[in-house]
Amino acid sequence: KKGLIVAVDGHSSTGKSTVSKILAARLGYTYIDTGAMYRIVTLRAMRDGLIRDGKVDDEGVKRVLPSIVFGFKYNDEKKRYESYMNGEYVEKAIRGLDVSDNVSLVASLPYVRELLVEKQREMASAGGVIMDGRDIGSVVFPNAEVKFFMTASPEVRARRRYEELKGKGEQVTYEEVEANVRKRDYIDEHRETAPLVRVPDAVLIDNSDMTVEEEVEEMIKLIRSRY
Ligand code: C5P
Repeated sequence: KKGLIVAVDGHSSTGKSTVSKILAARLGYTYIDTGAMYRIVTLRAMRDGLIRDGKVDDEGVKRVLPSIVFGFKYNDEKKRYESYMNGEYVEKAIRGLDVSDNVSLVASLPYVRELLVEKQREMASAGGVIMDGRDIGSVVFPNAEVKFFMTASPEVRARRRYEELKGKGEQVTYEEVEANVRKRDYIDEHRETAPLVRVPDAVLIDNSDMTVEEEVEEMIKLIRSRY
């Protein structure tokens, strides 16, 4: 039997990617970070001057979209997942607060979603994947065998993201990070195309007071029960 499709959706900065990577390693599955794809499109749009004062040049993004080549790989030597845009290493660039500030805007464009969803379905066609995003269980794979919906209080999430960015040497304040977390939640939940929702068959995980280990154990147990 081919591997399962595990959908991990939820709010921003809930540690979806952290647990998804651990789950993938433990199960021998492929980890697919769909947020990175939206971030890459956003980086391209920003570099091309297509985002100004919180507004996107719709036609401009539509024009450059087909020329973007997405690349993802696990770097064995450095023990990390890496993102590439047309062959350029962009992992660091797509994680900054400037991209985070604009990504929800770009992710609300229907034609961007359409193209990326198509790519995500192709990437997972062999099964055996942990896919992390916002609409995986609702839109990309409504028939996924296992679905999780992760959340935590906005304060806990902002605190974690703040520590992470600080650790990377970014110049940010806690207030900026909290505002970004709340803004992304709002846009993600209220957009017309594929809004962030918890589908009824998704298992809710609120990790405000959980350690990563506790969370992974709970998720693994559920995944194994569905084999
Ligand atoms: O997961 P991450 O925080 O990196 O995702 C960045 C942004 O991309 C999200 O805030 C959301 O606006 C968008 N996104 C989305 N659908 C996905 C994954 C991410 O709309 N499947």
